[in-house]
Amino acid sequence: MSASSTPKTNPDGGARPADRVIIFDTTLRDGEQSPGASMNLDEKIKIALLLEEMGIDVIEAGFPIASNGDFEAVREIAKLVKNASVCGLARAGRGDIERCWEAVQYAARPRIHTFISTSPLHMKFKLQMEPEQVHQAVIDSVSHARRLSPDVEWSCEDGSRSDHDFLCRTVESAIKAGAGTINIPDTVGYAVPEEFAALIAMLFNRVPNIDKAVISVHCHNDLGLAVANSLAAVGAGARQIECTVNGLGERAGNAAMEEIVMALKTRQDSMPFATGVRTDYITRASRLVSAITGFVVQPNKAIVGANAFAHESGIHQDGMLKHAGTYEIMTPESVGLNKSTLVMGKHSGRHAFKMKLKELGFELGDNALNDAFRRFKDLADRKKEVFDEDIVALVDDELQRVHERIRFISLGVVAGSKGPQTADLELVVDNVSHQANTTGNGPVDATFNAIRQIVPHEARLLLYQVHAVTEGTDAQAEVTVRLEEGGKSVVGQGADPDTLVASARAYIHALNKLLTKRAKTAPAALSA
Ligand code: KIV
Ligand code: ZN
Repeated sequence: MSASSTPKTNPDGGARPADRVIIFDTTLRDGEQSPGASMNLDEKIKIALLLEEMGIDVIEAGFPIASNGDFEAVREIAKLVKNASVCGLARAGRGDIERCWEAVQYAARPRIHTFISTSPLHMKFKLQMEPEQVHQAVIDSVSHARRLSPDVEWSCEDGSRSDHDFLCRTVESAIKAGAGTINIPDTVGYAVPEEFAALIAMLFNRVPNIDKAVISVHCHNDLGLAVANSLAAVGAGARQIECTVNGLGERAGNAAMEEIVMALKTRQDSMPFATGVRTDYITRASRLVSAITGFVVQPNKAIVGANAFAHESGIHQDGMLKHAGTYEIMTPESVGLNKSTLVMGKHSGRHAFKMKLKELGFELGDNALNDAFRRFKDLADRKKEVFDEDIVALVDDELQRVHERIRFISLGVVAGSKGPQTADLELVVDNVSHQANTTGNGPVDATFNAIRQIVPHEARLLLYQVHAVTEGTDAQAEVTVRLEEGGKSVVGQGADPDTLVASARAYIHALNKLLTKRAKTAPAALSA
């Protein structure tokens, strides 16, 4: 791929070279719109700070008008982040734009990202507006945002299915009204690479003031083409890519940040573009987002899947032993996957445990470290070998539990064929201890019935999934639970060598998320 039509000026008015691609991360906004992926304030802050540390250029922290929780998260992230731009999303109305500015104004580099649909389908059925009204709304919204913020991005929602003449007119007007970034979304993941690159090239050829803005792309993954479309757009002149950690996002998700960044780094020969991202943070970011959202990364996922650097077949292993380049196009170290130097067991002390966590990319506060160490010792007593995967599962589990209203204390279960299966459960809810003794159709059902007795709720169990973290019958179980209540779904995870304890932890984790979600109510029409 070659940069056939590079922009005439550089992003940020010349501050960055023309071959620099701005990485805009929307894990906290589009990513959080994945069904079940809600995050609380602390979790969002943790992710934002890591994204900043790893060199992400723009962090889209949320949709401030959507809920008080979203507003607060954007405002707090704006206050804390110093190097990256902090961006909030807003529809075209003044109320949205002003609420967005209220939240992002504290940032060292605030950005308002305003959008409206430009495709015939969206204008007619979703907006019920005439194209002329939409065109005027573009001018009004960008002008208003620009009066508040020095940095404004405008997006034409469903851009890839918009009429070209109309798209060129709106892009030109948005730039004239002061938008410094123009984002072309493939909102429904419909585009294919060649066609999407041609769309970007068409804009460069036909919009007279295009050199006054950075052209950005935002691709969804409905056909599995989000990364390919984004990279094709860069070849045609786009210089900002919107993406998410682990490819999280609406429906099939967005372009995966780690794939975009590593593709650009690995294939400099055909894509000579740079990003500012420290790739050795990728594994850590992936694990943090997975732990917080409860979205398990599929083992064969590019870059961050458990098997991304694993070699099973004898022929491959033989090749690897002779020269790693035979079957690896990038090193595990380049994505922060370090070869383990410390072997952990029941004699390992607190200091070694802390060093191991550092090696695995975790830095815990004193309380979380003490709790994780206590659980590690307990695990080491019960399990012959403690692998890195065990420690990651244990710490992820621990991180999820900070600030939870419902806490697991203990569980005793009677299982087997003689029946009835019973569960004897103790939980602490809002600092008050509760106990329940229940029966069920099997030990898992009995356990979940006990939770329902202590914390009555109407949520439906949509998914119950168990997987072993490592090999062997003494492996830790990692359980995923999805609950749904009033159209909202949440995912919880729990890990423990005892599958039933892991199940209880996962269910409680999901229930805690549901409590957070209940407090957040966004009108359906806000989805973007
Ligand atoms: O997918 C989309 O079109 C969006 C816009 C708001 C950028 O998320
Ligand atoms: Zn989107």
